[in-house]
Amino acid sequence: MDQKHIRNFCIIAHIDHGKSTLADRLLVATGTITERDMKEQVLDDMDLERERGVTIKASAVRMLYTAPDGETYELNLIDTPGHVDFTYEVRRALQAAEGAILVVDATQGIEAQTLANLYMALDANLEIIPVVNKIDLPAAQPELVAEEIENLLGFPAEEVIPVSAKTGENVEQVLQAVVEKVPPPSGDPDAPLRALVFDSHYDPYKGVIAYVRVVDGALATNQKLRLMAAGIDIEALEIGTFSPRMTPTDRLETGEVGYVATGLKEVQDVRVGDTITLANKPAAEPLPGYEPAKPMVFAGIYPVDNEDYLDLRDALDKLRLNDAALVYEPENSAALGQGFRVGFLGLFHMEIVQERLEREYNLNLIATAPSVVYRVVLTNGEEIEIDSPAELPDPSKIEEILEPWMRVQIWTPSDYIGPIMELVTNRRGVFEKMEYLDEKRVLLTYQLPLSELIVDFYDQLKSRTRGYASMDYQFSGYQPGDLVKLDILVNEQPVDALSIIVHRDQAYEKGSALVRRLKEVIPRQQFKVPIQAAIGRRVIARQTVPALRKDVLAKCYGGDVTRKRKLLEKQKEGKKRLKKLGNVEIPQEAFMAVLKIG
Ligand code: GTP
Repeated sequence: MDQKHIRNFCIIAHIDHGKSTLADRLLVATGTITERDMKEQVLDDMDLERERGVTIKASAVRMLYTAPDGETYELNLIDTPGHVDFTYEVRRALQAAEGAILVVDATQGIEAQTLANLYMALDANLEIIPVVNKIDLPAAQPELVAEEIENLLGFPAEEVIPVSAKTGENVEQVLQAVVEKVPPPSGDPDAPLRALVFDSHYDPYKGVIAYVRVVDGALATNQKLRLMAAGIDIEALEIGTFSPRMTPTDRLETGEVGYVATGLKEVQDVRVGDTITLANKPAAEPLPGYEPAKPMVFAGIYPVDNEDYLDLRDALDKLRLNDAALVYEPENSAALGQGFRVGFLGLFHMEIVQERLEREYNLNLIATAPSVVYRVVLTNGEEIEIDSPAELPDPSKIEEILEPWMRVQIWTPSDYIGPIMELVTNRRGVFEKMEYLDEKRVLLTYQLPLSELIVDFYDQLKSRTRGYASMDYQFSGYQPGDLVKLDILVNEQPVDALSIIVHRDQAYEKGSALVRRLKEVIPRQQFKVPIQAAIGRRVIARQTVPALRKDVLAKCYGGDVTRKRKLLEKQKEGKKRLKKLGNVEIPQEAFMAVLKIG
């Protein structure tokens, strides 16, 4: 297609404001999928979506659209990941586009990720098309939200397009705006090939499929290609576009978006942000800004039943095929046996992975409390990075410990400023600024240690603001902190998987809360079980789980049989997730207890 007739764009939105629905609706409006496909897709459950998902929910769909000027345009819709953890991936996807449709829910108004995504889109120099969605809802206030968009973001209210992605109302106007406002791709057709990899997935038949935007030059099949950052040469087995299914083509020209089947077996080799060039005629410079994804949060993941260790390894191997950011290595815990130390981009990524392991691979897992990556300066001047409390060297060898801090932006109705301030202060947060966006809404900016953010912060924020606040965060740097390791002893035995690193000022409070909580979740045994929190040799808090009374069932004898059965069933259920530690059984909740003491 003639470069002048290409438009590359993405859709940015706060979660649930209707990005996917609008995307589907654009596909219907251009005849790329049928109304029936759209309905089916909406009704899809997880499994189905996964099976067909890669093709239908491809993250770069080509549509052909005949505009009112009579000309046919090639519109490439590039999807961006929805979670804050994937900021880097979002940025790369934005760099593959020239424009962005900004979707704001007409019943909700602007939220934290609306802003965060908009700033990223502006950084990438994208032309913005503001849209107010869900105008079919009775609670919709499209004029008010359009005004908010004008006041806060500076786009004239009359240019904001009111749409319903659900009914399709005014969706045609959005397509027209894409053609009229989004500039065609620039880029030099005669220069050596440079294609940006902005996503990838693993296909069992064709190997890793790289999603690319051709920036300069052109791509053809059977060319010898080179991944510049990875330093790997490949042959393009197949190239094509998603329309919406994978459709092979002979060439991808300058400015076009499509895929390259690389034949490679590991997504880790095809990193988002890498540049593809010709092996025989390489570009002088790769496209700027490549950085490999770096995990920020680590947790131990163990099978409840030690026999499932190999299944867990297989499941992680399979997940990794499609998740280049997932890293893991075997880890041994005295308490939990053989498992893995797994690294994640952030909390949401961690939740997604844990849930997939359990749901899709049917594994019964115990996850330890998450840890951030600490930098430890040793007295001998050396600096090491650790991602598990167990790796912390002896205090006598430590000069200083540094921890990662985040810049956190919270968007909230002003009624909740008090409760948010309190939450953030409890979490060692440092106030940076407060901006009123209108009479009722404020944007609060704080600096907060990541370790405080990964422990139940988001849920607390939601519950303290009745779900009204939204947040976004970015890494801001490492800072020294007065940090100590808090060990937990159950029945006099230290349980490595329960150790945490805490700020010294909070050690007593956290230690006390943790042993109290453990007392509640550790079932009674035949004997008394002391639970202690200690820093080094010094015990700072203690609780005791009293011994079991003679017979739990005694009081049921001769009485209600169903009640007795229920009791036994309940015990059986509880067993599923018990780990035997010496002679004490510790349930899964114990390992997550630390998440509930923030
Ligand atoms: P994430 O995938 O979580 O980022 O959300 P999203 O922004 O893609 O939102 P999605 O398209 O999944 O829509 C969220 C919810 O809003 C769904 O229940 C949709 O059915 C609904 N929705 C989307 N657009 C409209 C609309 O125009 N009208 C109405 N009434 N509901 C809509």
